[in-house]
Amino acid sequence: MAPKSYLAKAALKVSGLILLGAFCLVVENCGKPPGLPASGVVNATGSPSAMTFGQVSAQIIRPKCLKCHSYAPYDFSSYDSMMAAGVVTAGDPQDSMLYTEVATADMPKGGPPLSPDEVQMISQWITDGAKESVVEEQPSPSPSPSPTTQAPSLEPTYTALSTQIFLPKCVVCHGGADPAGGYDFSTYDGVSHAITAGNASKSKLYKAVSSGKMPMDGTPLSADELSAIQTWITNGAQNN
Ligand code: HEC
Ligand code: HEC
Repeated sequence: MAPKSYLAKAALKVSGLILLGAFCLVVENCGKPPGLPASGVVNATGSPSAMTFGQVSAQIIRPKCLKCHSYAPYDFSSYDSMMAAGVVTAGDPQDSMLYTEVATADMPKGGPPLSPDEVQMISQWITDGAKESVVEEQPSPSPSPSPTTQAPSLEPTYTALSTQIFLPKCVVCHGGADPAGGYDFSTYDGVSHAITAGNASKSKLYKAVSSGKMPMDGTPLSADELSAIQTWITNGAQNN
């Protein structure tokens, strides 16, 4: 984009902000879209650090942006496509359109603006280096030396794992009235029974798929699928 038109646009945004500010003086609870809990809590763990794309995507991008941003040139459906869209400069929110567009309430287009907490979350994620996932230090040696820094094409969230792995590849045996081995993987609660949150190598589910033992009689999971499951467990195996 030409710097000139950006400046003009920025000026428009600033005047918009001033209007919004004046409006806020007379309206209580301004900036909180309806339906959000009053606390506006966005981080389930309460931890202010270690923001990951998975969290930002699950809490903001997927519910509020993907309706319009799941194709080029602004495809936010995966970490790679978001970074390829050029809207994020890691470490510098002010130089990242992903941040400036929501901070000025230009986006989501036509929708209620993001809450201050949500805008802060995006800023924090970019400031933290716009990481895809955080690989936590583990005191116990990991049995798999596979590089988890490699970008998996699958998001490390329960929603993505469930729709792309557990439901299509496991529930045929691990569901219904008499699930195989007593494990029902059709729900988050059921999956949780085979997980030790924070520790992939102790999780029955991860052991079963990384060893190739599961899916029984099926094609073993790909490296990307294994890596997404591992990251999701390492990050706390949240219902995200
Ligand atoms: C109702 C559709 C819609 C929704 C929802 C939406 N956008 Fe957009 N967005 C657009 C369109 C259309 C464009 C391109 C034209 C423009 O800049 O207005 C765009 C452009 C952008 C751009 C590039 C801006 C530029 O100046 O080129 C960014 C960054 C962006 N959107 C972020 C977001 C984020 C983040 C969300 C969710 C919080 C979001 N959008 C939600 C329709 C939408
Ligand atoms: C064709 C049927 C079938 C499919 C598909 C299948 N499983 Fe299993 N699974 C079984 C059976 C039968 C058992 C119990 C016997 C055993 O442990 O060998 C089992 C046991 C397990 C166990 C318990 C192992 C233990 O050590 O206690 C886990 C965890 C598991 N499966 C995970 C999965 C996952 C994850 C998938 C999908 C990626 C999957 N399974 C797909 C049939 C299946």
